[in-house]
Amino acid sequence: MALTGIMDSHLSESAFDTIRRMVYEETGIKLSEQKKAMIQSRLMKRLKQAGCPSFEQYVKTVKLNPHERAIMFNLLTTNVTKFFRESHHFDFLREGFLPVFLKHSGQTRPLKVWSAGCSTGQEPYTLALVLNEFFASYPGRDFQITASDINTDVLQKAAGGIYQWEEVSDIPYEWLKKYFKLGTGPNSGLFKVKDTLRKKVNFKYFNLAVPVGNKRDETIYDIIFCRNVFIYFDQDTKANVIRMFYNSLTPGGYLFLGHSESLNINDTRIGKWSIQQHTVYRKEV
Ligand SMILES: C[S@@+](CC[C@H](N)C(=O)[O-])C[C@H]1O[C@@H](n2cnc3c(N)ncnc32)[C@H](O)[C@@H]1O
Repeated sequence: MALTGIMDSHLSESAFDTIRRMVYEETGIKLSEQKKAMIQSRLMKRLKQAGCPSFEQYVKTVKLNPHERAIMFNLLTTNVTKFFRESHHFDFLREGFLPVFLKHSGQTRPLKVWSAGCSTGQEPYTLALVLNEFFASYPGRDFQITASDINTDVLQKAAGGIYQWEEVSDIPYEWLKKYFKLGTGPNSGLFKVKDTLRKKVNFKYFNLAVPVGNKRDETIYDIIFCRNVFIYFDQDTKANVIRMFYNSLTPGGYLFLGHSESLNINDTRIGKWSIQQHTVYRKEV
């Protein structure tokens, strides 16, 4: 529907509540009362594109149309990320986890890693780079990375693997040269992840908030990175997701969280965990 009349940009309390409820029920993201201005500014442009003269009308459209709902969720997730974010995690992998993993008798299968809430791909590509460098010294050993998110726009960007200079500036020059192609012509100034890394990462849509048992993939992982995602969830959603991670990890597998996130290891709902270092947890049996 084309917009002909005047737009009502006011976000009423009832439209605000409905949006918050829908977001919580379908994504687990808890938007607080303070997020009204943020919701309003992030959705304003979309109202026009969807031909809705008011937020009331937009809410009606979103309720009826799953495609519009997905667009709204894309607009309301926060996707801040960067290469080598919280770099001590990658040091821990190299120095603490990987040597032990390799020493384990019978561990000839590939290392399996899940980047859950991967945003635009910087986290799984950093993992791929670090693991590729490490495994280069161990011929015959390999790894696979699954990277998932609920936001289909960020997944598209992640799969494309194309970044601006500002986005790759945290990557040491030697690795930038080795793992990225510098664009030419219309792509000049852009950096594209080379196939060596790209083929190591499998991107897919996965909603962490879907109740346990409903949609979990059956892969068992050695490592799960889920960083800076729990900050958007409430305690119940978080407990459900951690339990799902517990069931998705091999015994002795590791869970990495963001710098301001933690597990309450006394919560019996989430399985048995030990703390290895700040924000790094090991599955115990
Ligand atoms: C702040 S980013 C973190 C990116 C990366 N892990 C990092 O630490 O740099 C949070 C990501 O979690 C995703 N997310 C939020 N709720 C989710 C859900 N229910 N299922 C899957 N991903 C979700 C968002 O779309 C967003 O890309």
